[in-house]
Amino acid sequence: YRSLRIALLGAGSVGSQVARLLLEHGDEFAARVGAPLELVGIGVRDLDAKRDVELPRELLTTDLDTLVASADIVVELLGGIEPARTLLLEALAAGADVVTANKALVAAHGPELFAAAEIVGAQVAYEAAVAGAIPIIRPLEHSLAGDRVIRVMGIVNGTTNFILDRMHTEGSTLEESLAIATELGYAEADPTADIEGFDAASKATILASLAFHTEVPASEVHREGITGVTSDMVAQAERAGRVLKLVAICERLPAGEGQPGGAGDRVSARVHPVSLPATHPLAAVRQAMNAVFVTAEAAGDLMFYGAGAGGPETASAVLGDLVSIARRHVAGGPGTAGSTHAKLPLAPFGEVLARH
Ligand code: HSE
Repeated sequence: YRSLRIALLGAGSVGSQVARLLLEHGDEFAARVGAPLELVGIGVRDLDAKRDVELPRELLTTDLDTLVASADIVVELLGGIEPARTLLLEALAAGADVVTANKALVAAHGPELFAAAEIVGAQVAYEAAVAGAIPIIRPLEHSLAGDRVIRVMGIVNGTTNFILDRMHTEGSTLEESLAIATELGYAEADPTADIEGFDAASKATILASLAFHTEVPASEVHREGITGVTSDMVAQAERAGRVLKLVAICERLPAGEGQPGGAGDRVSARVHPVSLPATHPLAAVRQAMNAVFVTAEAAGDLMFYGAGAGGPETASAVLGDLVSIARRHVAGGPGTAGSTHAKLPLAPFGEVLARH
């Protein structure tokens, strides 16, 4: 099979890690996909910007339009609405598939992108747009497609969780902890998006739309950030055995008796600080970690936990999308895990037992 041409847009904390991993593990990706993934270019605004990873100079370009036009799969990690939206619509119109981690874009223009993809039979994948490394898009879209989700409660912004956690444990101020979160690469370029809850609200839009098979416009998500949380409020919560968390809550509100099959149900999506009992599973989510707690009619409670931000962590979800889309290119159908690929030798059972 010929190699697949990958265009990467953006070389920030996530983009530079995606590039590094693609270049370092090229052989493994080729074996897993059944075709080489060729990184044909990395679109950036500034060729000389300082980056987390040193990238091959010859791959960098500021001509994003030309780069997109040459690709089989476009990986968009620019963030923000424009030029990301226009570039992805161009890519889709040309029949390329798209992987994006852009929660603001998917929340505001997801339906437009999905419609553009459908016209040409292309794919749009965005596992990394919500809760970084945590698999949550695919579980909601596929694994729970046969169930009825009742509620999704998520700690989906690492920066605010980090800030609130430090207010509880160290009595630090919002400003001090935000500076550290920025240094660690968790915060958005404009951290207002984190502390005012815009970032979590974009994720709530995406989660609610998937969980309830509907379109929840971003404008319908109630949003309150953490700037109103004071150290007094934290101390009061502590005394009551509770923990303050910024939570995205997406709920199915039943229409009432006598309406079969969920007809007439409504959906509520909101982001605001919540005082959780210290025994709630979400209360144990510390530092910049994320977690999504899903309750479904038949499955009951499910919890997804992991890193919601950070370069390599988010790159893991981006590359997962890339591999599964690339597999479909090769197979002309759903992923072909394990079919054509080199297998690792099995360790003798006794050896495995001895190590645990
Ligand atoms: N600023 C976001 C966060 C990055 O802190 O969670 C991941 O979307």
